[in-house]
Amino acid sequence: MKRRSFLKGAAVAVAGAAAAPVLSACSRADAPAEPDSRVAGKFSFGPGGTFTVLQFTDTHYIAGDPRSERALRCVQEALEGVKPDLVIHTGDVVFGRPDIESAMEILSPLSSSGIPWAVALGNHDSQFGSTREDMFKAIRSLPGCVNLPPKNGVLFDSMDAVILKGEEDIHCYDYIRHSQIAWYRAHSERFARENGGAPVPSMAFFHIPLCELPEALAAGVQPVCGNNGEPPCPSRLNSGLFAQFREMGDVKAIVTGHDHDCDYVLPYGGINFIYGRFSGGDTIYNHLGPDGYIPSDTHTAPGTVSGCRVFRFTAGEPGFRTWVRLYGGEIRQDFSAV
Ligand SMILES: [Fe+2]
Repeated sequence: MKRRSFLKGAAVAVAGAAAAPVLSACSRADAPAEPDSRVAGKFSFGPGGTFTVLQFTDTHYIAGDPRSERALRCVQEALEGVKPDLVIHTGDVVFGRPDIESAMEILSPLSSSGIPWAVALGNHDSQFGSTREDMFKAIRSLPGCVNLPPKNGVLFDSMDAVILKGEEDIHCYDYIRHSQIAWYRAHSERFARENGGAPVPSMAFFHIPLCELPEALAAGVQPVCGNNGEPPCPSRLNSGLFAQFREMGDVKAIVTGHDHDCDYVLPYGGINFIYGRFSGGDTIYNHLGPDGYIPSDTHTAPGTVSGCRVFRFTAGEPGFRTWVRLYGGEIRQDFSAV
């Protein structure tokens, strides 16, 4: 891949971040059909020729709750240790009331870091009093947040839960809507057009994994690295985002959170399913230790270590590298994708 195209690729990956979760943006049937010109072009490689993205996920923070102290330390320590060019939080930022105050507190290391950052909300982020719109508005008010306003974003909001009423009600985790897919295709086509017609290598960040992940596992595909401590829990409804990624040919990685006991990489059908590393404390289940899954009957296994995931892009080189960084700095996994 030539440097120019990679630069654009990185820009899109970042734009995916920069542009935003798009809760109401793409989450409802009113997502814009036309791509937003602000989505790309904000980021570039640094003097060392690299661009580093730091992913936090599932901090499940509750302000004033001592079980959350580990989450705050994890975020602070990783920011100082990684010194990324961009930070993406893939959701379940909070896990209790007061929810807005909790979000402000766990995101405060990001907002005071001077590093641009963005959030794709998780299913729990609208379950403690505030709507997704109110939560998103509060997050966007923080310094350094590069989420665009609703209806202009680029990250996907995999939303909360859904009940489809009918002869037989369906109640499950929410799914990516048609409007979001239309929005994705509009941006994808625009980026390819500006790239001489070639798809621009991209990454998609959201909270809840897609249905194709458990399908891959059921077909015998195994992770190439990382921990597989629980079955994926996607929506039961498949609205076809994976197929769209394949059709457009640009998305090389689907990066999610949601399943705390997983932090693996699983290549499937030309796209890498990648879990972030649980970044929370002890307000919610977690069983990942420094050297693997810790079997336990308890909600949170003793000896677990929170962490984050890092993505590094290098100018002039195709693809990306990714690894998990544990609290304290130890590295686990080292996966390169082309
Ligand atoms: Fe979670």
